[in-house]
Amino acid sequence: MDPAILIDDLSKLADELARRFEDDARAALEARGKFLVALSGGSIAWNFFPRLARLPLDWTRIDFFWADERAVPPSDPESNFAVAYSLWLKPANVPEPRIHRMYGEDPDLRHAAKKSAADLEHHAGRPPRLDVALLGVGPDGHIASLFPGHAALEVDDALVIAVEDAPKPPPRRLTMTLPILCAGRRVVVAATGDSKADVIAQALKPGSRLPLGRLVQSATNVDLLMDTAAASKLPAVRKQVE
Ligand code: 6PG
Repeated sequence: MDPAILIDDLSKLADELARRFEDDARAALEARGKFLVALSGGSIAWNFFPRLARLPLDWTRIDFFWADERAVPPSDPESNFAVAYSLWLKPANVPEPRIHRMYGEDPDLRHAAKKSAADLEHHAGRPPRLDVALLGVGPDGHIASLFPGHAALEVDDALVIAVEDAPKPPPRRLTMTLPILCAGRRVVVAATGDSKADVIAQALKPGSRLPLGRLVQSATNVDLLMDTAAASKLPAVRKQVE
């Protein structure tokens, strides 16, 4: 299905993301009594998490998972958990039992991946279905820690896997697999800056094999949030604000 494309400046994108997140959360809490969120790292955190932290939601009923994590301790500034904790979870007072981080400090990453998969099934059901995944995209088209041409992108029999040789540092990472991300009720991909312009245009071409392209082709409900720089190489027909 075509993604819903939104092109605007950063503060308007943040407001719109916050509006959709709040609407989704309220609807999910009413319908299912829980709201399951997956986060990733990079600029999406700095650009959007502080705005989302201010939402007037009942954080005791919202569960946080990670779409990917770097193989570092949770106290390391490179940790996706650490960044999300300081920008969102701590200021919003999210209770500790609602925070299901990945164990990037485990020297045995495959063991850590299994633990995260079990956590996910425990809280999100079998097969797990996230309510929303908030993802960035790299200039090479990667999402979470699923990189173009990497074997991890093809895994369809696991929920969370270890990646030992990622091209983006640090090379050792944990990541949710593409089918789990695609199964989310909403997947938000946010891209800012002109370093993302070429890859966004490539990924939206039919049949793209880039991780972002495959997500857009397979997920049911993708919101693509971009500033004008990231959207600058899109054909005019794509630039309709929805
Ligand atoms: C990570 C991320 C990764 C990130 C993209 C985009 O751990 O590095 O989860 O998938 O979201 O690389 O990062 P930028 O928005 O900072 O370019």
